[in-house]
Formats: sequence, structure tokens, C-alpha cells
Amino acid sequence: MLHSPRPGSGWWRSGVIYQIYPRSFSDANGDGMGDLKGITQNLVKLSELGIDAVWLSPFYKSPQKDAGYDVADYRSVDPLFGNLTDFDELVAKAHELGIRVMIDLVPNHTSDQHEWFQKALAAGPGSKERSYYHFKSGRGENGELPPNNWQSMFGGPAWTRTPDGEWYVHLFDSSQPDLNWENPLVQREFEEILRFWLDRGVDGFRVDQPHAMGKAEGLPDHPYVDEAGAGFIEGRENPPMWFQDSVHEIFRSWRKILASYPGERAMCGEAYVLPLSFMALWVRPDEFHQTFNFRFLDAGWEKDRLVQAINESFEAFDAVGAPSTWVLNNHDVIRHASRFGGDYGRATASDGIGPENPQPDNKLGLRKAKAASLFMLGLPGASYLYQGEELGLPEHTTISPEHRQDPTFFRTAGKRVGRDGCRVPLPWVRGGLTNGFNQTDKAWLPQPAEYAELSRDVQEQSSESTLALYKSALRIRKELALGEGSFDWVSTTDLLSYRNGNVLVVHNFTGNEAPLPEGELLLRSGSGAFLAPDETVWVLSRT
Ligand code: NOJ
Repeated sequence: MLHSPRPGSGWWRSGVIYQIYPRSFSDANGDGMGDLKGITQNLVKLSELGIDAVWLSPFYKSPQKDAGYDVADYRSVDPLFGNLTDFDELVAKAHELGIRVMIDLVPNHTSDQHEWFQKALAAGPGSKERSYYHFKSGRGENGELPPNNWQSMFGGPAWTRTPDGEWYVHLFDSSQPDLNWENPLVQREFEEILRFWLDRGVDGFRVDQPHAMGKAEGLPDHPYVDEAGAGFIEGRENPPMWFQDSVHEIFRSWRKILASYPGERAMCGEAYVLPLSFMALWVRPDEFHQTFNFRFLDAGWEKDRLVQAINESFEAFDAVGAPSTWVLNNHDVIRHASRFGGDYGRATASDGIGPENPQPDNKLGLRKAKAASLFMLGLPGASYLYQGEELGLPEHTTISPEHRQDPTFFRTAGKRVGRDGCRVPLPWVRGGLTNGFNQTDKAWLPQPAEYAELSRDVQEQSSESTLALYKSALRIRKELALGEGSFDWVSTTDLLSYRNGNVLVVHNFTGNEAPLPEGELLLRSGSGAFLAPDETVWVLSRT
């Protein structure tokens, strides 16, 4: 058997965790931006969906240069989203409904408006305040060249010069200076931040970019920047800004803090670390509880890559006793209902789809997306969902330049349109300009016309809807404890099938109709007398 059930507790081992993107979930005060009250009011809908936990993307005080991943105060709520009382009410309501709450911790960088950075700028070169970040003198006769060749993930150089001539590093936008994690003061600050939120009752953290936190001593050049840009190439040496060994001690100290609280608090690292045998080091029993599985996300919907990703996942994570996670969507990638309707390369490239690009076949995309979700939700381990995928929402691919917000768009002069297309406000009740996102028709990003028919209230009326499929999948998954189950391939042919306990899951990659497998039909992503191309089915079968 490739994966056997693992005795032991931990909701996070098998839970379905739903990502809420606060800007776009629900807008209670009608200003066009989602808010915490909007989330609280609609938690009951998520409870009906059948999820176990929510993860909230950042809602902290922030100038919103990177949609809140530029934090100006880790202990406050941005007035755009509400206040701490609203947050406490959200947590209380979630817990009343049996939903756990994870929040986003952003430790690699702050906003340039954070008081640590403002103090660092004011204090000048060589100061204790500057040692919170990576400041350096430039190269060239007058220090006019950046200290090294690092590139920003959002395009352009990873260095910006301050008025006094020193440079600071930012692996993302220039408004997101990277913290210096060699500095024990930075480490203490974050330990206090963790406690602040754990004291308020959060059940865990999704940790942003943990693989960027350590930097090689002296900040040497990226050895193959021309080939890899800001990133790395799997199998080659680790560039000096990615997955340095120094980070493990930090994660161990955090794990101890979480363990010192009652209940089962958990942290999931957004660790883009490959191969997964290497990532396994990050989820050893005293480090992260789990990490996102970008290998699975990046497998597209191609049979061989999918098989390899699943094999690699179980082999790597089981070796250290960690659950594998599974994910098909988040706020950084093209929604799967569009991604699978075209050829858009690596999901995690975060390039988006713009009006100038080939447009997706959303009908094909949705058919594959529903099947892919059903395939994923039958797997043992934790599954992450992104708001709106339960409605089968497509990417918004025709957002006009004046609405664009993603720094990637601006830093590449529009060459990479970026991630706005997957971040559009949710349609709740068909009608008006925002389909029930709020009552005022205002929205920070416009919805595409297709969202009206996909509104939640419309889908609630139909047993054939994508929403109905997700609800059934989550209900059956829970009833049959699939999240805690086992895994074995039955066939890795184009009629790809695996078994989780008594449940047989089959996906049809053949391109032709195939007979439905024998056994009691539990759920399927299509309909008809045969298993259609791109369809997934769950059947109960004891043999
Ligand atoms: C990963 C987040 O998911 C993404 O949205 C953000 O832009 C970067 N980290 C930088 O914080």
C-alpha cells in the first residue's frame, strides 16, 4: 500500500481547509471591499458546505500594495476590514459552528510603512534599527549599483536605494523589505506576534514564504540568475535566498509555542521547496505540521505528472509522519475552471490571463475542474480549497488596466497581468453589479458577466450544480473518513484509479466514454450511462 492510515490525532491531518480572501469574500459595509463582518455573517454558508477550517489571507493594517501581504502592523486589523472586536466575533462564531480558524503570518517581509522599517530608515547606516532588515552599500564607484544580482519575484531588481545611499533587499515589491532573520530581535518579535493571536483563540497559521526567510551569509550573487530569474531550478544548487538551513531552528521554536497552547494548533508553510523529499525536512515532527503541495498544484491535469506527484507526496511525507496536503487553487494562481480550459504553463508562475492572451474554454475547464476536485477530495490527507471554487468560478480574464492592482502587472509593464483575475469578489445572490457581494454595487474589482448565473443562491436551487457536488463530496468524505484513509493505485492507465478503503475513485483520461466501474455509485462529476471523458466517479466497492 502506498499510504496506510496513520493513527494519531490532529484535525489538520485530514481536514478540508477553506481559504478566505477577505477583500473578496463578502462586503458588509458596502464600501466595495470585503470585510470581517461579511465573513462572520456568511460562516454558516461554509458550515453548510462542510469544511473543517478556514484560512484567512491577511487582514492586518497595511497600505495594500500587495493586497495585504505588506503588513504595517501585525497586531491590528486594517480599518478596511474592521477591527479586533470584529475579529474576535469572527473566531467566536466560527468556533460555535465547529470551524477552526487559521490566519496568515507574513514573516519574510514587512510593509515599508511598518514602524520597524520607518525607524530603520531614520536611524541610518550601521544602526541596530537597520539590522532588522538587509541593508547594504551598493557596488560601483559611488555605490550606485545594487549590492548583488538578485531579482524580485514580481519583476525587476530585488534592491531599492534609500536617500542616504544604502540599499535594502525585497524579494517582492519595493514596498516589502525583507526582514533579517539572523537577528534575534526579529525572532523575538515574531514569537510575541504568534502568542498575541494564539491568545485570541486562533487555531493556527498559514506561513507566507517561509523558504525565503533565511539568506546566505554575505548575500552573494544568485549563481544562475540568467536562467532562473528570481527563482531556482530544481536539482541545481540552492540560490542564496531560497531554503537556507538556518530556518529550521525558527520553525522549531514556533512549533514549541503552538504546542504550549491547549487544543491542536497547527501551522502550514507556504513552502515552495522541491523535490518533496527535501520539503519533508520542513515537516519533521518538530517543525511545520504541513506544507502546501505545489507539486500537486503544478501537475496540471496530466495523468503522468499527477501520478508522479501523488507517489512523490506519499513517499516523502509518510517518511516523516506528516500528512500530505492537496490543493488546486489559491489567490496566486489561475482558477482551475479556466486553467484546465487552456494551456497556461506552470500554475505557480502567477502570470494570469489577460485580454490579449488566448482565452480559456471555460466549459471544458469546468468539466475537468469538477473532476479534478473530486479526485483530490478522495485522497487521504488535508485538502485546501479556495473561495469560489465550490461555485466553479472561472478566472476573470478581461480586467481592464485601470482596475489592475497586482504589483506584478506594474513591475512588468503589463507583460505579466498577474493575479487579479482569481481575486474577484464572490457572487452570493444573483442580480445587480456585484451579485450580492454587497448591497451597494461597488466592488474593488469588477465581476465578469458569467458570475451572475454562478451565484451561490442560484446553485443552491440545483442538485446538479458545482456547489451541490462539493457539498456531497465533503459530506461523503467525512462520513467515510476519507481524509484519514489509505491510498493505493488500482490502475495507472488512462482510466486512472485508486482505492481509499472501500472507495474506488476513477478518472477517465482516455478521451472516450468508458464503462462505469462496478459498485455502489457514491458520487460523480458528470452524468449518463457511461464514464465520460474527463469525468471522475466515486464508487463503494469491497473488492
Ligand atoms: C505569497 C502570497 O501568497 C502572495 O500573494 C504574496 O504576493 C507573496 N507571498 C508575498 O507575500
